[in-house]
Amino acid sequence: MSKVVSGIRPTGNLHLGNYFGAVQNFIRMQEEHDCYFFIADWHSLTTHPTPEQLHNNVRQVLAEYLACGIDSEKACIYVQSDVKEILELYLLLNMNAYLGELERTTSFKDKARQQPNNVNAGLLTYPVLMASDIIIHKANQVPVGKDQEQNLEMARKFARRFNNMYGSEVFPIPKPYTYNGAEMVKVPGLDGSGKMGKSEGNGIFLIDTDKQITKKVMKAVSDSGPTEPNQEKPEAIQNLFTLMSIVSEPSTLDFFNDKYNACEIRYGDMKKQLAADIIQYVTPIRKNIEDIYNDEAYLAKVAKQGAEKARESAAATLKEVRKLIGFRNF
Ligand code: TYM
Repeated sequence: MSKVVSGIRPTGNLHLGNYFGAVQNFIRMQEEHDCYFFIADWHSLTTHPTPEQLHNNVRQVLAEYLACGIDSEKACIYVQSDVKEILELYLLLNMNAYLGELERTTSFKDKARQQPNNVNAGLLTYPVLMASDIIIHKANQVPVGKDQEQNLEMARKFARRFNNMYGSEVFPIPKPYTYNGAEMVKVPGLDGSGKMGKSEGNGIFLIDTDKQITKKVMKAVSDSGPTEPNQEKPEAIQNLFTLMSIVSEPSTLDFFNDKYNACEIRYGDMKKQLAADIIQYVTPIRKNIEDIYNDEAYLAKVAKQGAEKARESAAATLKEVRKLIGFRNF
């Protein structure tokens, strides 16, 4: 049975990007693999949340995982900071991670640009911590969205490097997972360019009400429409079609594509349909979130059970790693 590991940073509510890029595959994979899904609270410290924000965000993501259908009896669900073994491996991997390659990482360069007054060492070594998260359980597959492709490539590199250095095959080389071998998913935002994100103000969240979803979709950037048949779609328009390809029936997508190609498209109609299809997806999830969020005893039970199982798996790997490196008891 292959091992699967993935995580989400607790920096706010889950949005459609998180859902379709990651969580949807978590739910599929838990049926047939040995899965470890966690809340990456150490990673979220790079942006300095307050203690209240940190705790509430962890609780929210845990509730949202469960509301989406991740089942704590099928998959191991845990909070990263409950598993200290990850940190020891992080330190060990840091000894073979080089400044140049870390500085060249796209996500580091982006963050350094976005928060020039807080270019901390945690940001620089972010991919090393992520590699540790993944290989501590000897993961074979990692379900993530397209934006994590480079970080995952670094995890593969660090795993390979460690294996070569100690002449072992202790770490499998983790592969990105996509459903049915499709491309990795990138859910676009509603602002005409780029991906849907938590802080970009361009997202639809699983907890949004019908009204909020409709309002956001109706306001999404579009244009005055094509002027020639079969014209190439500008980015903002392509984004609407991409969203529709994710949430709607293929026949709905074909209908609006044909209208576009015939220069007969009415974006108002398309957006109404898109909003309705998104609402259909999130309604059952949204209903669950609040109930689960308020059930503190249940959340505590899930987190405790997950931490125990994750620690056991992590400790077993670490034992092998320590031996390979040469840490010996007197
Ligand atoms: P994070 O918290 O930014 O995002 C969580 C997951 O959601 C996916 N995602 C998207 N997928 C498609 N389109 C989008 N617009 C979109 N936005 C987010 C991400 O690809 C990710 O799968 N570094 C990771 C968290 C992490 C991790 C790990 C993941 C820490 N350690 C180990 C896997 C394995 C992150 O910040 O994801």
